[in-house]
Parts: sequence; C-alpha cells; structure tokens
Amino acid sequence: MGFFNGVPVSIKGTGMYVPEKVLTNQDLTAMVDTSDEWIRDRTGIRRRHIAAEGELTSSIAEKASREALRNSGISPEDLDMVIVATNSPDTLFPGVAPKLQGMLEAKKAGAFDVQSGCTSGVYSMAIATGGIASGVWKNVLVVGAEVLSRIIDWTDRNTCVLFGDGAGAMVLGPAADGEGHFISANMRSDGTKHDQITLLGGLVEYPASGETLEKKLHYVAMKGNDVFKFVNRVIPPFLKEYCLESGFQPEDISWWFFHQANQRIIDKTAERLGINPEKVVINIHEYGNTSAASVFLALCEFMREGKLQKGEKLLFTAFGAGMTYGGIIYEA
Ligand code: COA
Repeated sequence: MGFFNGVPVSIKGTGMYVPEKVLTNQDLTAMVDTSDEWIRDRTGIRRRHIAAEGELTSSIAEKASREALRNSGISPEDLDMVIVATNSPDTLFPGVAPKLQGMLEAKKAGAFDVQSGCTSGVYSMAIATGGIASGVWKNVLVVGAEVLSRIIDWTDRNTCVLFGDGAGAMVLGPAADGEGHFISANMRSDGTKHDQITLLGGLVEYPASGETLEKKLHYVAMKGNDVFKFVNRVIPPFLKEYCLESGFQPEDISWWFFHQANQRIIDKTAERLGINPEKVVINIHEYGNTSAASVFLALCEFMREGKLQKGEKLLFTAFGAGMTYGGIIYEA
C-alpha cells in the first residue's frame, strides 16, 4: 500500500457501453440445468448483456472510450497512454490497447493491455495514476473491456450463469484547481491459488491440440466454491487494513465500488466492514460479472446519476484470477 505523491491525478470523464443483446436467467434455463431462482439467490444476477456476432472487445472498448473522452473534454491527440484492462482480448497480440489507440487516432499515445484477472481494472487505474503523478504521462485513457461470452463454456452451469460482456472507460489527467484526486492504492496477489480460475488452453503450457479442444481447455474454468471461501476470508480484513492505513475508518468511505462478482460476497464484505449498504454501488443484477470492466461500469452509471458530491471518498476494489486483489481510493 502506498500514497500517490507528486502531481494530483483526477478522473476527467467516464463512459461505458454494453451490448444490446440481453440474456436473462430464464433464457439460461433452456441451455443448462439451472433456474432463475438459483441464480438470483446464489449470485444476485438477473440478466447479462452479450456481444453480437462480430462485436469485439476492441469495438465495445472504442464506444466506451469515445464517451469518456467526450465527457472529459480531452481529445485523442492529447492522450499520452491508452491502457486496456481485459481478460478477453480480441487476440493475444496485438493487444486491444494498440488497436484502440489506432481506432481513436491517438497519435502521440503508447498503448498496452493489463491482464491479471478481474483485478486488472483496479491495477490499471493505479498504473495510470502512478504514471501521471510521476510526470511521465499527462492524459491517460483507462478502459476495462470484456467479451467473456466467447470464452465461456455455455454447457457449464458453474460458469456460464455468472459472466457478461461490457466496457467502461475513464480519462485521467492532472487535477485542475478544485478537482478530485486519487489518494492511495494497494495491490496484492496470492499466486499459490493460481489454479482457482483458469483458461489453460492454446498457449505455452497447453498448446492448442485436439486434446485441449476435447478437454475444453479453451474455456474459463473455475473452482467457484474455493474462490468464494478465499474471497470471504481475505477481502474483508484486507479492505479494513487498507482503509486504516490510508487514514480512514471504513465508514469514512462515501461510496464503495466492489467488483460485481456475487451479491452475497458484496453483502458479507459490507456487513463485516460495518458499511451502510446504501453506500455500496450495485449493478450485478443487470450485467453479471463483467470482470475487468465491472468497477468502470459501476462508476460510469453512478456518474450519470449525478450523485457525486465534492470531497466524497470512493473506494474501488476487485479480486480475480491469480488470485489477485486490490483497492484504490479517490477523493472527489
Ligand atoms: N444452477 C443450479 N445449480 C447449480 C448451479 C447452477 N448454475 N451451479 C452449481 N449448482 C449446484 C452445484 O452443483 C451444487 O449442487 P450439489 O449440492 O448437488 O453438489 C449446489 O448448486 C451448490 O454448489 P456450490 O458451488 O456449493 O454453490 P455456491 O453457493 O458456492 O455458489 C457460486 C456457487 C459459483 C455462485 C459461488 O461459489 C461463487 O460466486 N463463487 C465465487 C465466484 C467468483 O466470484 N468468481 C469470479 C471471480 S472474479
């Protein structure tokens, strides 16, 4: 955990895009042995959005980015870096970020992807903030974008009910007078749990073969119950310690942007931290788990509602494959 020093870094604008097509819990009952009730009770999810044929991670990232740029008043030519947090890139290389940088004609910007499970979004915010605070970059576009529907096994009820597609974006830059700023970040990992959420096939350890296809290694696999236990054991004390080290009690945080993976995990964490549930931003019922995009979608919807007041503290936190986890605090 550490505090950001140097140039204060502000969120200049946010944007989002979710595919039009909606897949309801009821729709899923025709595909796997499940029920609307089971999915709602165990996860809080009611619907998720699914990319149309031909829609790519880069194309939904572009739509979210254009809105964020418009809202920020910063033009693509003024971007110094484009960072895309994703676990479902169009291709392993090129990454999504260079494609996006090309689509936006952000001619002076560098570009790279961050792929570290669902925590990628929070990691990316911290990387961008660190880069701007140090003076290396000025304006950075940070995007969380996922088309997970293409890497989900739609015959596996353990995973297919959980995930959805979507993209959220934010433009970060040096804070002008009176603007908010990021305060601190804490990024962690427990790599001894690397077998809990995986997509193994098609790369170095398991090169694509008839066997990898047959064993369905090109799809997301998850030990859901192990993840559930790991998160419930590790995340509440981590967040408590992180708040205290940042100089806050959990109740000092005005708005909590949890990774939208499971409503039960969110509720349990909030309860253990003693947080008022009204301070927790929730959209899992509509989008499911959109992995690296989840905290960006939650923030963008929150901003659209115009709820944010000057001086309020926002805490973004996520966990995911690795197992990685982390948090970042912003003062509006
Ligand atoms: N529909 C109906 N039944 C299902 C089901 C589904 N979609 N998926 C699993 N089940 C069944 C199981 O087979 C099991 O049946 P059994 O008791 O006959 O063996 C039963 O429901 C309970 O399964 P379990 O895995 O113990 O349920 P759970 O309460 O742990 O909930 C998850 C499952 C996946 C919702 C939950 O473990 C979870 O959210 N884990 C964290 C996942 C996560 O956050 N992943 C993303 C990380 S970024």
